[in-house]
Amino acid sequence: MQNKTFAVRPAGPEDDPAIAALVVEGFLDKFRPIFRGRIDQSTDIMEKWVRLEHSIGGVSSLVVETSDGVVASVGVRLGDSEDETLSRALWSILRKHLGLIPAVRAAALLSYPRYAPQRAEAYVERLVVSSDYRHEGMARTLLHEAESRGREEEKGTVALHVTNNNHAALKLYESEGYGEVSRQRSLLTSYALGIKSWLYLRKDL
Ligand SMILES: CC(C)(COP(=O)(O)OP(=O)(O)OC[C@H]1O[C@@H](n2cnc3c(N)ncnc32)[C@H](O)[C@@H]1OP(=O)(O)O)[C@@H](O)C(=O)NCCC(=O)NCCS
Repeated sequence: MQNKTFAVRPAGPEDDPAIAALVVEGFLDKFRPIFRGRIDQSTDIMEKWVRLEHSIGGVSSLVVETSDGVVASVGVRLGDSEDETLSRALWSILRKHLGLIPAVRAAALLSYPRYAPQRAEAYVERLVVSSDYRHEGMARTLLHEAESRGREEEKGTVALHVTNNNHAALKLYESEGYGEVSRQRSLLTSYALGIKSWLYLRKDL
């Protein structure tokens, strides 16, 4: 399909619930085995996580809004992140929503890929387009916009992780000139989520 033109705008705090719902929709195949019987809690958990990323994680989000509301979103980390505080906060959110043992399991699975974004790079995460709006060029548009933000902040590179089995996203990133730098394998996520490896892709800005 021909790419259309979309208005991309920076997300504000009022968009956090919509971004959380989109992320859960887009990554449901991953979240189902992580949250299992508590999948109904996943949107609340994600909303709290997105809010934390925006407040102390150095992440800004961009969204595409149509008459249906926010239908696509991406996060881009450009600032410094308080990683220790983030990890503690995530643990406390999981513990509260899931209970101790499921929280331990979810925290272990959500810790992949293990990576601390570098200051010199713009780090793209949770790129997602609602299923009714796919194949219209929204992901490519959001990616371009995230890259522009990286250039504005004088980052030298833009980087992201993608799972080995995410063929749609891999095709997009390859077509945009991203190259594989390294690969992280995990027996745990292979067994629990069917994800054998996480590819770290990067591109010069
Ligand atoms: C991956 C995803 C973001 C793509 O969104 P999209 O808006 O449909 O993508 P676009 O329309 O911008 O397509 C851009 C390119 O991606 C590739 N692509 C997108 N969907 C594809 C599919 N189902 N199969 C193969 N390639 C695909 C194509 O190369 C496409 O370019 P083309 O249209 O010129 O062929 C969307 O499928 C999604 O939200 N998936 C779930 C969440 C996810 O996996 N996010 C990526 C995390 S790393």
